[in-house]
Amino acid sequence: MKIDWYPGHMKKARELILDLVKNIDLIVEILDARLPQSSANPVLQELRGRRPFIRVLNKDDLADPTVTKAWKNYFEQEEGVKALPLSAKNRSASSSLQNLCRRMVPHRCKPGRPIRVMIVGIPNVGKSTMINTLAGKKMARVGDKPAITTCHQLIDLRNGILLSDTPGLLWPNLEERGGAQRLAISGAIGENAYDQGEIALYALKWLVATYPQLLIKRYKLDDLSGEPADLLATIGSKRGCLISGGEVDFRRSADLLLRDLRGGQLGRLSLETPPLAEAPAA
Ligand code: G4P
Repeated sequence: MKIDWYPGHMKKARELILDLVKNIDLIVEILDARLPQSSANPVLQELRGRRPFIRVLNKDDLADPTVTKAWKNYFEQEEGVKALPLSAKNRSASSSLQNLCRRMVPHRCKPGRPIRVMIVGIPNVGKSTMINTLAGKKMARVGDKPAITTCHQLIDLRNGILLSDTPGLLWPNLEERGGAQRLAISGAIGENAYDQGEIALYALKWLVATYPQLLIKRYKLDDLSGEPADLLATIGSKRGCLISGGEVDFRRSADLLLRDLRGGQLGRLSLETPPLAEAPAA
């Protein structure tokens, strides 16, 4: 599966990040805890310079807790980096993240000197949810910066933290083998960019290899051997995804599996493990 990003867009985004980062004390990157590698922007690490960096492992409620712990340890091996597993939908996420910001930049915690935090994330990782949870009712947009992009926003949390949000600036990490497939499985890529059936079969193969018990339990399966297409047909048939004549509706079955997986109905699972994402066997 190939997903193209317009190179001109990447070059411009890179320049914008470099420009913005000059007036930033701390960078917060929102990652999807289920795929922290592919949901990370590949150049942010390099562009941050020596600035403190928080990697939020969001959607922690959907990820395998053991794997998330391993990711946290892995990221924190690097100087100036902290990793914070949380669920942005959860109210406690706000205080956890704010407290960590203050701990990482103690010299800015003074009246009139708010911590300037750049918050970034690829689409669908939960950045808006995180901003809303952080802002609560106190949110105040303090202006655009049209010279950079019309979408750039400063959000004053009115508690000594100033968020800088620039939507649409980042692209995912597609460099790793299977990265695009894992992003598609997680729902981070628009459905028009890939074939649902192909991705469902890919996901099924990976589930059989990595989380067979979750699959057996969810769909009451007796046997996981055989071709993924046959297994998907069994799942579809058990869940009533049929067309007239009693045949299995392949598309609806694929859709059901992917929706279950994304929504956590199969259980908590992680698509990538550190230090390098293990691509699901294709
Ligand atoms: P974005 O700004 O990065 O593009 O992402 P956004 O906040 O819009 O979140 C994308 C989807 O992820 C939303 O679901 C949101 O509810 C969900 N989400 C965000 N954080 C978490 C989390 O910590 N745990 C879980 N389980 N889900 C999270 P949606 O189905 O697209 O929208 P909706 O059903 O919430 O309206």
